[in-house]
Amino acid sequence: MLEPITGLRRTHLCGEITKDLLDREVTIAGWVQHRRDHGGLVFLDIRDRTGLVQTVFNPQEDEETHRKSRDVRAEYVLALRGRVRPRPDDMINPKLPTGTVEVFIRELRVLNTAKTPPFPIEDETRVSETVRHKYRYLDLRRPKVQSLFFLRDKAVKLTRSYFADRGFVEVETPVLTKSTPEGARDFLVPSRLSPGSFYALPQSPQLFKQLLMMAGFDRYLQVVKCFRDEDLRADRQPEFTQVDLELSFADENEIMEILEGYAALLFKEIAGIELALPLPVLPHAESMLRYGTDRPDLRHDLEIRDVSEVFRASGARVFRDALGAGGVIRALNAPGSAAVLTRKQLDDLVDLAVSLGARGLAWIRIQGEDWQGPIAKFLAPGEKENLAETLALRSGDIVFFGADKAEAVAPVLGHVRQKLASLLNLIPENVFKPLWVTDFPMFEWSEEEKRLVSAHHPFTAPRDEDLPLLETSPEKVRARAYDLVVNGSEAGGGSIRIHRPDVQARVFKALGLDEAETRDKFGFFLEALEYGTPPHGGCAFGLDRLVALLAGAESIREVIAFPKTQKGVCLLTDAPGPANPGQLKELALKTAAKTEAGAKSRAGTGAETKSDTAAGAGAEEKT
Ligand code: AMO
Ligand code: AMP
Repeated sequence: MLEPITGLRRTHLCGEITKDLLDREVTIAGWVQHRRDHGGLVFLDIRDRTGLVQTVFNPQEDEETHRKSRDVRAEYVLALRGRVRPRPDDMINPKLPTGTVEVFIRELRVLNTAKTPPFPIEDETRVSETVRHKYRYLDLRRPKVQSLFFLRDKAVKLTRSYFADRGFVEVETPVLTKSTPEGARDFLVPSRLSPGSFYALPQSPQLFKQLLMMAGFDRYLQVVKCFRDEDLRADRQPEFTQVDLELSFADENEIMEILEGYAALLFKEIAGIELALPLPVLPHAESMLRYGTDRPDLRHDLEIRDVSEVFRASGARVFRDALGAGGVIRALNAPGSAAVLTRKQLDDLVDLAVSLGARGLAWIRIQGEDWQGPIAKFLAPGEKENLAETLALRSGDIVFFGADKAEAVAPVLGHVRQKLASLLNLIPENVFKPLWVTDFPMFEWSEEEKRLVSAHHPFTAPRDEDLPLLETSPEKVRARAYDLVVNGSEAGGGSIRIHRPDVQARVFKALGLDEAETRDKFGFFLEALEYGTPPHGGCAFGLDRLVALLAGAESIREVIAFPKTQKGVCLLTDAPGPANPGQLKELALKTAAKTEAGAKSRAGTGAETKSDTAAGAGAEEKT
């Protein structure tokens, strides 16, 4: 028989029952973690979000209550009233904050029963992520999992108070809107009232926050959901949360100061780590050269060097060919790695490079005077000497080479660098190395689209001194953009925006958008720019990424209450699913036969349109 909670008001949370409450009568409520029946005494461990407390039932005291306690099972929901008393010495559990006491129960109400859960509600579990996510509400009962959400909650509260203290105003922006390009595909929502027309879910509130600056809000903040239809990874979800902000009348120095103050606050309050401010700043070009990426992991000091000059006259074909074709030669030395790396690991590194599009990954292993490896015999004595001096080589080192166009070599060696660091155990735990990467190029060449695309988004301002290059050599134009990078992950990014309509028009032109297209997509925005737009800039942090980083979680899925799989599926609700024919008709939509037949599409949104299947994977890299 289930009983009501009415009349039995909770006085304490389970985790609060400590020796401070000895002899007090308390009422608690929660789930049964564990039942131990000692024939006579029955012990129930009761769990709520604050912890576990042991309760005791004695048949001599109250036969009825004791009898009820014997029928209780794991995860039953109970309310209990009793007196706090010390545990006998041999039953003290020093691991629990409540471990010196127990509650001697006088009244027990069974509020609800529970089926046996598919996995035990305990911190350590061997059950797969798939099962955990199917029963996410049970997974979320596990204290370790819950603690991630308390941490996330703390981060959000700190965020709101930090920015409120600095005059930022929270304003909500629409979710049903027009496309805001951030480099991913849009999720579309069909309109019933305008058949054949679609809203796009925002990839970010970029345009709206700029409009708010035009509207004179001066400083804007929003903790906001963004939606991007892109290929998912450990640090990407189709819907995720940004800490999004924008401010007027400030240059990048002022903005970066505010932003790094925020980052420092989160690190201190959540991870107990003091960041040394100001954070280091690394221009994009230097980051690509030294680390082969625009989000370098600075927890270890492996570094890439340009050695083109050393091999200018080389007889090694690999090097000669690359230099002859206008390429470069870059080297990455892994000091002392000869003693650690196996031949198999070396071969795997070469395979890694090739899988990333390189033609190969030459290497040299230095054992005293002996230089070994596939290209060693092609190196002239002078080249060896020069290389040894340039890279300060020592016996026991292995040097890896990439020879190709600079844009091709950098990312390959960047990946090899990171793989090496993990093979050589060079990445320390619990160390955070944040930095700013600045001076990004405005545009990148998209092989897929065969045109320039924005490296950030098209509202990012070019550097003043590069403005004349917009028409002559756009690929050389640098943006007033900044990314906050932590341990190889992009935690946030932003820029100073274009506030002059003429410059915005020139940037659209450089992107190959003709006037009609621009007017159609951004006409409202270009018009708004003409009514007195203040200089402004801003940034968005990935909240999920920040929290995952601070919590040491392996994937952002861990810090999202109801996440989706790599395929964009919610295992709990089974979304996405087919729409019923009536709904489709109302929306004036037709889908491919497969979906109409009711078969579930696990791959996409269910609407198997041409653009869906034709869309390439490269688009994601532009964000
Ligand atoms: P950007 O596209 O760099 O900038 O996004 C800002 C931050 O959002 C996070 N992020 C993601 N997190 C989880 N899953 C995803 N799919 C995902 N995509 C991005 C990253 C990233 O740094 N409007 C601009 C910001 C601005 O210029 O103010 C923007 O959205 O941590
Ligand atoms: P090959 O002459 O193509 O057999 O290559 C000789 C060695 O150079 C092999 O170890 C290849 O992995 C390596 N190699 C080939 N092309 C490149 C390149 N573009 N950059 C770096 N190493 C390369």
